[in-house]
Amino acid sequence: MSDASTVATVKTISNDALTTGLPNSALRTPTPVSTSTVSQNVVPTQPSFVGSIIGDNPYFQAGFGLMGLGVVLTGARQALIFGLTTLRRRMLVSLEISNKDKAYDWFLAWMAHQTQVQAQTAASSRSILSRSVPWVRSHQLSVETAFEQRNNGSSSVVFNLVAGPGTHWFRYQRAWMQVKRERETRSMQMMSGQPWETVTLTTLSKDRNLFSSLLSEARELAMKGNEGKLVVMTAWGIEWRPFGLPRRKRPLKSVVLDEGVSEKIENDVRAFLDRRQWYADRGIPYRRGYLLHGPPGSGKSSFIQALAGSLGYDICLLNLSERGLADDKLFHLLSNAPERSIILMEDVDAAFNKRVQTSEDGYQSSVTFSGFLNALDGVASGEERIIFLTTNHIEKLDPALIRPGRVDLACLIDDASPSQAKRLFTGFYDSERNADLESLGDELENTVDREMKQGRRVSMAALQGTFIRSEPEEAVRAAKELFIER
Ligand SMILES: Nc1ncnc2c1ncn2[C@@H]1O[C@H](COP(=O)(O)OP(=O)(O)O)[C@@H](O)[C@H]1O
Ligand SMILES: [Mg+2]
Repeated sequence: MSDASTVATVKTISNDALTTGLPNSALRTPTPVSTSTVSQNVVPTQPSFVGSIIGDNPYFQAGFGLMGLGVVLTGARQALIFGLTTLRRRMLVSLEISNKDKAYDWFLAWMAHQTQVQAQTAASSRSILSRSVPWVRSHQLSVETAFEQRNNGSSSVVFNLVAGPGTHWFRYQRAWMQVKRERETRSMQMMSGQPWETVTLTTLSKDRNLFSSLLSEARELAMKGNEGKLVVMTAWGIEWRPFGLPRRKRPLKSVVLDEGVSEKIENDVRAFLDRRQWYADRGIPYRRGYLLHGPPGSGKSSFIQALAGSLGYDICLLNLSERGLADDKLFHLLSNAPERSIILMEDVDAAFNKRVQTSEDGYQSSVTFSGFLNALDGVASGEERIIFLTTNHIEKLDPALIRPGRVDLACLIDDASPSQAKRLFTGFYDSERNADLESLGDELENTVDREMKQGRRVSMAALQGTFIRSEPEEAVRAAKELFIER
């Protein structure tokens, strides 16, 4: 009975018996056939023995069944995952915006704005589906505070509640979008020390064109907020970033300079801006430098701000005495100023009254005079660049600084001249409420003229201070006390 063929037969039979339930005897008939086939190839005894165990054991059989089921299920799961991934790939689109990009702030501001609009309209319309405004849902908010301290001491604060890190959902033009704001805490941006952040928008791929309309809507919103406003930027590491809130533009004619000075500077800048091609044709770097010098409170800073506003330019404010500003950073900042901006460096004499600059505590500041000159000369960058320098002491400036190419136009912005004082005065008060404004203006003009001949002057800032405090007659009288020897 240990014959291989017999064992095989038995196995077959028992298998069949199991499946069909027929008695062994009934199946003995085909034995000779199987014997003849099997006996020709010599089958080793061992596997057949194992086979008999497996074959006979119902547990193994059940195991096989389970295993089969497992395989099928695993397969199904894989297929499902694969299917979902493909579906995701084919049906969803994602857009990643990093905080290096301008669109980043626009988008967050836009989302914050939508939340506000939504809160306002929530009362009026019941169903979220019937609302025309995008529906935003976020539970994690982070605050972005914009703070502005003005010259006159007033300040304003705006808290913007924007979507915080996490996942948010909103509905935009009947499409659902997922917003994931993520923060990379392990690494910081090299120079600015800000964490990296990204916002990822995900939506169905059929709605992919909504991204661009959403982003341009966000941009428009940002631009509208800045319309008629002057954006002042400061250097953060090697980057330019808006400083405080955009300020209301100051009308150019509200800064009263001596006859023709304002026009001269404005025309020069406008002519420069019209001559881009002229510069390019001659291979001259497209840049122009201005120096406004004169006593403090004569309107230098105010004029530059008003001029930038009237040109629709931003101001990039650079403080040369700032700690940690090294030659290479300065160079980078000057060659990477945002477009349509004026670079303003105030009080350059204080930073460079000697060729080697030192700060009060004896430490040598890192911007050197030669580094500064190099940065002004710049490399052959084709970008337009307008630089304004101001100083109260032009005599302290190194002549190397005031040569064409670095400073192309230098203007004296002086203390009040007689006509300047009168123009500031008459522009300050309402002529309908003050009938004798003109004659009072003449009186002030004469006063300034008389004092000037005796070598005494008054600053425009001091005059303005008096005008703010007093009524016209009172102001003209008080102005007489303001003159000082110069
Ligand atoms: N020429 C001017 N016309 C109008 N306002 C002036 C003028 N000069 C100074 N002021 C006022 O005086 C203040 C200081 O002026 P500012 O521009 O800072 O002077 P500067 O930069 O020359 O020191 C500002 O509030 C400004 O409105
Ligand atoms: Mg100033």
